[in-house]
Amino acid sequence: MKKVITYGTFDLLHYGHRRLLERAKALGDYLIVGVTSDNYDRTRGKINARQSLVERIEGVQRLGLADEILVEEYEGQKIDDIRRLGIDIFVLGSDWTGKFDYLKEYCDVIYLPRTEGVSSTVIREKRQSCRLGLIGDGNIVAKLFAESSFVDGLSVSVALTSHNDIVNAAQKDGVQLVQDYQQVLDNCDAIYLANHPRHHAVCIEQAFRKGKHVLVESPVALDEMSCQRLFALAKESGLVLMDAIKTAYSTAYNRLLLLLKSGKIGSVVSVSATCTSLMPSGIKTMAGSQWNSRTAWGPTALLPIFQILGTDWKDRCETSFLASGTKDFDVFSKVDFVYPTAVGSATVAKGVKSEGELVIAGTKGYIVVPAPWWKTDYFEIRFENPADNRRYFYPLDGEGIRDELLVFSRMIESGRHLELIAERVSVAISSQMRVNRHTIEHR
Ligand code: CTP
Repeated sequence: MKKVITYGTFDLLHYGHRRLLERAKALGDYLIVGVTSDNYDRTRGKINARQSLVERIEGVQRLGLADEILVEEYEGQKIDDIRRLGIDIFVLGSDWTGKFDYLKEYCDVIYLPRTEGVSSTVIREKRQSCRLGLIGDGNIVAKLFAESSFVDGLSVSVALTSHNDIVNAAQKDGVQLVQDYQQVLDNCDAIYLANHPRHHAVCIEQAFRKGKHVLVESPVALDEMSCQRLFALAKESGLVLMDAIKTAYSTAYNRLLLLLKSGKIGSVVSVSATCTSLMPSGIKTMAGSQWNSRTAWGPTALLPIFQILGTDWKDRCETSFLASGTKDFDVFSKVDFVYPTAVGSATVAKGVKSEGELVIAGTKGYIVVPAPWWKTDYFEIRFENPADNRRYFYPLDGEGIRDELLVFSRMIESGRHLELIAERVSVAISSQMRVNRHTIEHR
């Protein structure tokens, strides 16, 4: 009996898939189809599948061509499968030509011509097409622009920016460069707002009035009430308002939160997050920078504290050093949030440098996320006995921005809440943006 095997994601099963499986089956007597798991797809950069693994397997099953279906879960599994199952022919579409020639050591390798004009990507893009408008000049806007190309059904149509990367790519990528905010709103379905937070409230209200969804760089607003009002407006208008903190969408950070919930280090007693940077070159004075330590780093440093310990702190203690000659440019701020059985400390600075670590202490052990913790693919759980220590690695695509965009796009498409930052966390972050008590001028 001649055994044939082929692999694929088989998302939104289409004519091209059927034709491939028919031809693969005709090459032998027994056809095995490997369907990729979500995790494995993620490690090879495929993040857009709309159907779950079970739905994709059911799609292949319904065609009635596969004699056996298996799940592909790890790199190198193809060799394992071929040897274990005694495969004679390995088949893939011609888009993979040459890539699996190394399997010729184990069986015949055949690349079949791909069916023209159809793909899961095209079907996904037809289902949803969201035009995104960008507002802001910082590097984060350029990074988000680059990451948008990985998300099916989302394309940048217009930008209000001076960032060179976007300006230079605009013509080639079909992005309209405009001079005012209204022009952005007139040429998109959703916006990404990364201008200074003092403009957020007005910009978001105007966007909602024109029926546009909003992804906004944190903080959503500069005070608690404005933030609450904006979320209420989003609900009334049936529009998405999503807080953009990329770290919340990084796989390592998310797995860390799940491990904490499972009690891996016992009860959490302390969360200490530090985020610091020096002034970007070109900006000579503190007053010349729009973002003080609080607005630049506060949302990121506060995120793990509020997500792990909650937003119901009992007391808080704040120390800030102001740049001389400024009223609210905190060069350095340290804020401690006191809970009944835990304490959270956020240390942020722009003009002072420290180790950008996240350390979470528990009653059984502790977690260390090394610097820069906000864009890491790695963390360690450590115990009294070092033999029990564990290291965790996860791929980090686009610093979390890719997944952030994917979630934003899915929320617009489905109308469901999929965001990873709860509204109460966004509101608590907005409530911490004022530099106030125990402020000392820094000389
Ligand atoms: N395939 C094909 N003809 C097409 C689409 C896919 O022959 N028009 C083949 C691929 O070459 C592969 C198998 O079907 O051998 C499964 O491909 P998969 O990646 O699941 O499908 P795509 O439509 O290419 O998916 P995507 O657009 O997400 O890359």
